[in-house]
Amino acid sequence: MQRSVAPEFLDSLPVHDPDARRSRRDLACVNALMGHAAIMARTLLRNTRDRPPRIVLDLGAGDGTFTLRLARRLAPLWPDCHLILLDRQPVVRDETRAAFAALRWSAEAVAADVFDFLASSACPEADVAAANLFLHHFPDDALSRLLALIAQRAPLFVACEPRRAVTARLGSRLLWALGCNRVTLHDAAASVRAGFRGRELAALWPKPHLWTLREQPAGLFSHCFSAQAQVGAGP
Ligand SMILES: C[S@@+](CC[C@H](N)C(=O)[O-])C[C@H]1O[C@@H](n2cnc3c(N)ncnc32)[C@H](O)[C@@H]1O
Repeated sequence: MQRSVAPEFLDSLPVHDPDARRSRRDLACVNALMGHAAIMARTLLRNTRDRPPRIVLDLGAGDGTFTLRLARRLAPLWPDCHLILLDRQPVVRDETRAAFAALRWSAEAVAADVFDFLASSACPEADVAAANLFLHHFPDDALSRLLALIAQRAPLFVACEPRRAVTARLGSRLLWALGCNRVTLHDAAASVRAGFRGRELAALWPKPHLWTLREQPAGLFSHCFSAQAQVGAGP
């Protein structure tokens, strides 16, 4: 299966479209089925053992509910984080912000294109950058530009993506049984075709000799990538 990137329906729907709202709710089920909060939390904790981060950048954060589930796992060990939820669409609800505040995390939602934001002076230097179900939106040339921008902003980057594999393809076809709508069913299948395998992300990471790169299958359907700057390297 060659990697192929196609537009996803959710990206073209207006923020308040009922199908888009429903699909964002479906995404929570998809993330739960894929076990992404647990995979991401484990990977982040493994890479930050002695240094709890203060500034966390979440790229393609959507409505922030995935990150909230992640924060519930991390907050006891990472107190008082400042979280930047970056997404092109302004879809973070007030109750989600309040839930972060209850964990003593300050959450700032930024509505911007990821390339514009990472290249701008508004983007702070973060301790950690993370992306969930986001990198697969980009073809390889854009992805290598994106990874280069991320490497300039954070010494640790972790991503959880769909694995381009038969199990994930079958899983995406079964989402109708969970009641997912047509937007989610389309986008899930497109995401698997645009997903990753092998060392595809490591191959696009800039200056790989200065970073510790790990990339492997995770769970039944997923692909996990981490890049940690070696001492003296990074932004
Ligand atoms: C599949 S959703 C994942 C959302 C969230 N990370 C989650 O796991 O629930 C991908 C998100 O990427 C955002 N997105 C796509 N292209 C983008 C870009 N160029 N800049 C910023 N956000 C983008 C979309 O608006 C969408 O919310």
